[in-house]
Amino acid sequence: MKISSKTFTKNRWAQVLIGIGIVVAGIFNATQGISQEVNTATLDATQAKYRISKYIYGHFTEHLGHCIYGGIWVGENSTIPNKNGIRTDVVEALKRIKAPVIRWPGGCFADEYHWKDGIGPRNQRPTMINTNWGGVTEDNSFGTHEFLDFCQQVGAEPYISGNLGSGTVQEMSQWVEYLNSDNVSPMTELRKQNGRDKSWGVKFWGLGNESWGCGGNMRPEYYADVAMQYATFLRNYGKNTLNKIAVGPSDDNYYWTEVIMKQMSTSIWGLSLHSYTWGNNETATNFDESKWFGMLQRTMRMEEYVTKHAAVMDKYDPSKSVALVVDEWGAWYNVEPGTNPAFLYQQNTLRDALIAGINLNIFNNHCDRVKMAAVAQLVNVLQSLILTDNEKMVLTPTYHVFDLYKVHHDALMVPIDLKTNSYTFGNSSIPALNMSASIDANGTLNITICNTDAKQMQPLLCNLKGFKATSISGKIITADALNAHNTFDNPNVVKITDFKQASLKNGNIEAKIPAHSVVLLQVEGTFEGRKAVTPPQKLQQGLQYKIYEGQWNKLPDFNSLTPVRSGVIKEIVLPENMPATNVGVVYEGYLKVDQDGIYEFSIISDDGSRIEIDGESVAINDGLHGMIERTGSTFLKKGYHTIRVEFFQAGGGWGLNVLMAAPGGEKRPISSSSLNCP
Ligand code: AHR
Repeated sequence: MKISSKTFTKNRWAQVLIGIGIVVAGIFNATQGISQEVNTATLDATQAKYRISKYIYGHFTEHLGHCIYGGIWVGENSTIPNKNGIRTDVVEALKRIKAPVIRWPGGCFADEYHWKDGIGPRNQRPTMINTNWGGVTEDNSFGTHEFLDFCQQVGAEPYISGNLGSGTVQEMSQWVEYLNSDNVSPMTELRKQNGRDKSWGVKFWGLGNESWGCGGNMRPEYYADVAMQYATFLRNYGKNTLNKIAVGPSDDNYYWTEVIMKQMSTSIWGLSLHSYTWGNNETATNFDESKWFGMLQRTMRMEEYVTKHAAVMDKYDPSKSVALVVDEWGAWYNVEPGTNPAFLYQQNTLRDALIAGINLNIFNNHCDRVKMAAVAQLVNVLQSLILTDNEKMVLTPTYHVFDLYKVHHDALMVPIDLKTNSYTFGNSSIPALNMSASIDANGTLNITICNTDAKQMQPLLCNLKGFKATSISGKIITADALNAHNTFDNPNVVKITDFKQASLKNGNIEAKIPAHSVVLLQVEGTFEGRKAVTPPQKLQQGLQYKIYEGQWNKLPDFNSLTPVRSGVIKEIVLPENMPATNVGVVYEGYLKVDQDGIYEFSIISDDGSRIEIDGESVAINDGLHGMIERTGSTFLKKGYHTIRVEFFQAGGGWGLNVLMAAPGGEKRPISSSSLNCP
């Protein structure tokens, strides 16, 4: 999103409004506070090309305070309703927001966790001292099997942080084998003895946690060497390719990013970023407007961190293959009075709803680089979605934001050029509005808007390009008090309600965004997407392929080279009798799709590859590397589209796999009946 604070003169402003056919006078008389200039947002659906990964809406769980014990795990014999010891109310709440990924077992705890202590009969598992979080005894009753059962019950992907700080390469490599291999081996036998025959196929794998701090106090150069060693021995089993995530920086440590990207960018799927919004010696509920403003101002720095880390990453990875994974973010206040300071238990107010909404809008707008995130933490710790007290459970304002924003999961991000008023407090100002938008698989345009201003309604005009709006509806999270929050006795103070202050005028949107609120606007209409092309009349099944020979370490300009062989191939697989080194292949033709919608493409290769649809790169997997996967999405209209796949192999292992997920479907190889060429 391009944001600028308004510097318009009144005259210029009037010209803009008249230019788009709006009668200014009296439209937006503020109902709260003094009247405001209209904020304007131009949403350009013709420029929508990046998918907002649902994994941005991920969660973090750690063996810390009552996150795992009490928050998730109560044990099979508990009177609290549970399935296999896991709280049913928490699972049901997470299913409602379609929680896509859960990170575990830490945090700092991950680098002192030995996974073998957490498998086998529970009454025989050894105990340990949780030295990071209060020195309590950890009895290991929630371990690998329990975590994966939890993920399965929720329907979320597991993301495991390995112990690089105090473990061994062998220990981490065996954990992956235990989880993902279906071969016969001591690790898979052990898994079977513990009641699980089939591998789980865990994909997301963290190479330690905060190795610059609690994970080992390492220099980035040293960490990169150690992490490369670990990464080497974390193997892919069967068809499961691991998405390895390196420890990244905190906040503005751009040097860390620089070093890791320089040394590791072709070996990792992601680089993590941790950035908390720190309270200024306050609890979650006890604050005035200056502290409201301060927290929102500090949380907005996420925009700067993401932008600057992404710029460093661009230097080493211009094709944006490596994901920035913001796997710890959220508000961190003083603990609730009377609770254990090491358990990080805090309440959650309307202010936290704004903090969540702003961060998620920032991630959405940077979805070309931010492909995963995890709020810290899921239950009973820091900025939680859920609080529990024995059998009681309450959903926080942050939960409701995740509920409201789930419309963005895997949708196509629509870039916004926002001209916003400022919200000024004392001598400082921040943007009054913060927004993001996307088009979902049904073609609905969803816009999420945060009004940071504690007192004033903000009038908003959205000018829509490339989207013909026919109807609009809305939902809102707000409350009278800035510190409004939900308690076990009063659980519905902050919740989602209908929002009626938005309408369509001449195909554009006019809305009044109330002070201190998070709003969702849902616009129905027509989105053109990528139009189908007309192919030549005579088509045969399959794609044309051309083989090239040469020595490359990244994809060359194949158009300037002469192929050594060509032909037609039914599917996108490597042609037979190809040389095994110093070779390139290009496939070209038409892809036929049966319905309008968002199509996801996935290209897995060793070495480099790229997939283009209608002449534009959708997924780039360039460079020298092992079998790694890159994905990209685009909105296709029913009919034919041009497809081009490029691949090269230098030496060593090699392979190419191209998958596509049609709207609502699973990723699978593109069927030969959808591939055609002249
Ligand atoms: O979320 C609490 C802690 O904050 C995590 O354990 C650690 O990674 C971070 O410093």
